[in-house]
Amino acid sequence: MPVTQLRGIAPAARLENVRYAIRDLACIADEVARQGHKILPLNIGDPLNFDFQTPAHMIDAVHQAMRDGKNGYSPSSGVKEALDAIRGEATRKGITNIQDVFVTSGVSEAVDICLTTLLNPGDNLLTPCPDYPLYSAVLAKIDIGLNTYYLNEQDAWQPDFDDIKKKITPRTRGIVLINPNNPTGSVCTRKMLEQIAELARRHNLVIFADEIYDKLIMDDDAHVAMAAVAPDVPVVTFGGLSKNYLAPGWRIGWGIASGELSVIKPYLDGVNKLLRARLCANHPEQYAIKAALEGPQDHLLEVKRKLRNRRDLTMKWCAETSRVSCVAPRGAFYAYPSIDIPEGDDVFVTELIRQKYVTVVHGSGFGQRPGTKHFRIVFLPDEKTLTAAYSAIGDFMRERYR
Ligand SMILES: Cc1ncc(COP(=O)(O)O)c(C=O)c1O
Repeated sequence: MPVTQLRGIAPAARLENVRYAIRDLACIADEVARQGHKILPLNIGDPLNFDFQTPAHMIDAVHQAMRDGKNGYSPSSGVKEALDAIRGEATRKGITNIQDVFVTSGVSEAVDICLTTLLNPGDNLLTPCPDYPLYSAVLAKIDIGLNTYYLNEQDAWQPDFDDIKKKITPRTRGIVLINPNNPTGSVCTRKMLEQIAELARRHNLVIFADEIYDKLIMDDDAHVAMAAVAPDVPVVTFGGLSKNYLAPGWRIGWGIASGELSVIKPYLDGVNKLLRARLCANHPEQYAIKAALEGPQDHLLEVKRKLRNRRDLTMKWCAETSRVSCVAPRGAFYAYPSIDIPEGDDVFVTELIRQKYVTVVHGSGFGQRPGTKHFRIVFLPDEKTLTAAYSAIGDFMRERYR
């Protein structure tokens, strides 16, 4: 008689706290699409879903690497050519005191490894609220409770510095800064970076500076790297090919660790242990890093031109629509309007998908100040699609809230 297992296999209890609203909503959108409706997707930050293409010289570099037999495992930190190119880019951004550079499977893996290396049970890490949900998902996975600081909508979504100060505890080990920000599109001022660096010095914190959108600043003002204003502070700067270089499916990201060697060295030994344990990032795709960082940057002009137009169209709609108001995004490709409605923003977005087939993500999926409601728009689609989507959202709001 064969033995049959009858009891269900339960996932670990800590996964209860893992939420990833962006992809979770996609399940509802799939259901609506299966009913035959065409979805207007303003929810997923993948430029390749729209009229953006990976630069050809990067594709050539990967192709060549594959033909050259770069198909085995690479060194765990990444191939030398890529590491040198990342160091060069860091130097151009004014980052000095670089102690280590490593290539990962997207910034996602760098975040996972860097947070896992830092935190013991009972420790905490300051993360922004609203937040790119990867951070809270990784923290839940390693059983670390959330300690969030607010971004201040009244101050163009800059970090609320007083709130950060209030939230530091004796067990706070670091702070995450997403700049340019997802989901708000805000860009940090130099003064804010300097203030946060000073706090890190005083409380012995590591700063995780997620700068994956640093070349997508729409109005051409400069992006200031956190590590450049604080060469003495332990900072891990995250960057990659997914956004600036339009290759999210290649899963190439990196970390640049800077600060005083004696302070950051023990931590970096831990990071490298985990890098070795997972063998390496995608090998042939690493050869696109030098091509991207040192090759032609022409695509950025075109990308920023499109993003500016689409941002402006989005802001015009927000300004003309009652119950909606929005701080203008300056970087990345997200807008995060506030909405004044008599129900939860989660209900708003689910009903919007079901009734008008437009997908946006609810503010509560990113975290927000109690009493406020928002939704996140990805304004990557072309003007025609955005106009159709905004018209449908406007109709939905008029019909539902009068
Ligand atoms: C702020 C931020 N960090 C990290 C990531 C993940 O990037 P990657 O594709 O390199 O894993 C994203 C993706 O949307 C993001 O918005």
